[in-house]
Amino acid sequence: MSGTTAPRSADRPARVAVVGTGYVGLTTGACLASLGHRVVCADADAGKVERLRRAEVDILEPGLPELVRDGLGSGRLEFVRDTPAAVREADVVFLCLPTPMGAGGAADLAAVEAVAREIRTELPDGCVVVNKSTVPVGTSERVGALLGRPEVPVVSNPEFLREGHAVHDFLHPDRVVVGGADPEAARRVADLYAPLAAPHVVTDAASAELTKYAANFFLAMKLSFANNLATLCERFGADVADVTAGIGRDPRIGEAFLKPGPGWGGSCLPKDTHALLSVCEAAGIDFPLLRATIETNVEHQRRLVERVVAQCAGPDGTLTGVRLALLGLAFKAGTSDLRDSPALALARQLRERGAELFAYDPALSETRPDLSDLVTLTGDPLEAADGAAACLVLTEWPQFRDLDWPAIAARLDGRVVHDFRNLLDQDRLERAGLVRQSIGSAFTMAG
Ligand code: UGA
Repeated sequence: MSGTTAPRSADRPARVAVVGTGYVGLTTGACLASLGHRVVCADADAGKVERLRRAEVDILEPGLPELVRDGLGSGRLEFVRDTPAAVREADVVFLCLPTPMGAGGAADLAAVEAVAREIRTELPDGCVVVNKSTVPVGTSERVGALLGRPEVPVVSNPEFLREGHAVHDFLHPDRVVVGGADPEAARRVADLYAPLAAPHVVTDAASAELTKYAANFFLAMKLSFANNLATLCERFGADVADVTAGIGRDPRIGEAFLKPGPGWGGSCLPKDTHALLSVCEAAGIDFPLLRATIETNVEHQRRLVERVVAQCAGPDGTLTGVRLALLGLAFKAGTSDLRDSPALALARQLRERGAELFAYDPALSETRPDLSDLVTLTGDPLEAADGAAACLVLTEWPQFRDLDWPAIAARLDGRVVHDFRNLLDQDRLERAGLVRQSIGSAFTMAG
């Protein structure tokens, strides 16, 4: 949170209930408390509630443990297990519940619907219910129908928080989007953010709900574009970093989100693009750009796998018995989150080809039984490199740049480092006797 200024406090503090303390719910609760609101966060997980009461935060989110501790200390932030009790006195109730990818790619709304049923009779008249979870267009209306309380308006207020930057993004938003059938209710929710001095887009529920999907689709599209552009650059001997700098300085395009990598992943972009595709299909709408965005990601990863296979395969054309060192498994740096991680997607394909995978990720402990069929987690990069035919950089942890590359070179069997995050210093690797293969610049296959 360095370099950020503290927002001023709310002139009119509200009583807020937040249901669900995942990274969105906990960030929302702790940040709203820091703005002066009185917040009760409810979660069904008793152990988690106990830990949060001791200010123990089990996700890696800079600034969040401090805000939780401050909120508890000021008495403005509370954690409870009992959801009905949390909402009984609230002016505003935020639903921050998981909406995982369900059958056919559609968002699974079971948690949102179960909580709506649980709180319907407990909500005080005149309170506003807010869908903060990413939910398909029409969900505000659906939650309203489940509540069956015409005097309790439901609005959509999507979040635009990046994991690993959630507190910063909450307290310094580009915009606050709130939509609902009742403009007064939408305005009340927008007013909670008044101290943040961000532009407000107050609209109808469908527009707010679609804004979230449109934002994540557009970001994914930009990344698929960047990864395809990288392939073009390799083919034509251009450098993708220069090309993206050249186009990105046009403000209509923008420099952000143009860095090629091992494909895009995480808990949101894949889930939300598939959910949007699923609602489009259900509505009979063909959206070729959306399909291509998803397919390009799959194809890009397949291409990277083929690159490793071409370099490392044995005489039988497979990776059977070939040892590979993976640096990074998290879906991006700054998080331990493995959900839909591109690193795991590549690892699965390499494993299917027979490779033996040894991985190091600074955010992961060595014991992860859920990964044991896929990779052997090691406690340090040298161990991962031991006897490996190649090293693959899959997460852009900045500390990988400063690893002891000569020592890694001494432990590796092969010479090639596939820098799938375009992170490492070319000269430093060359001095260590290694061959760096990046993405999106003249590509030469080295043995
Ligand atoms: C994403 C959005 O960026 C947030 O605005 C949104 O609120 C959030 O989803 C959500 O819906 O909750 P997040 O999932 O934290 O945030 O991840 P990003 O930082 O967007 O990264 C997504 C993927 O793109 C990662 O695999 C990352 O490594 C990759 N990426 C990102 C690149 O390959 N290149 C880039 O230039 C940027």
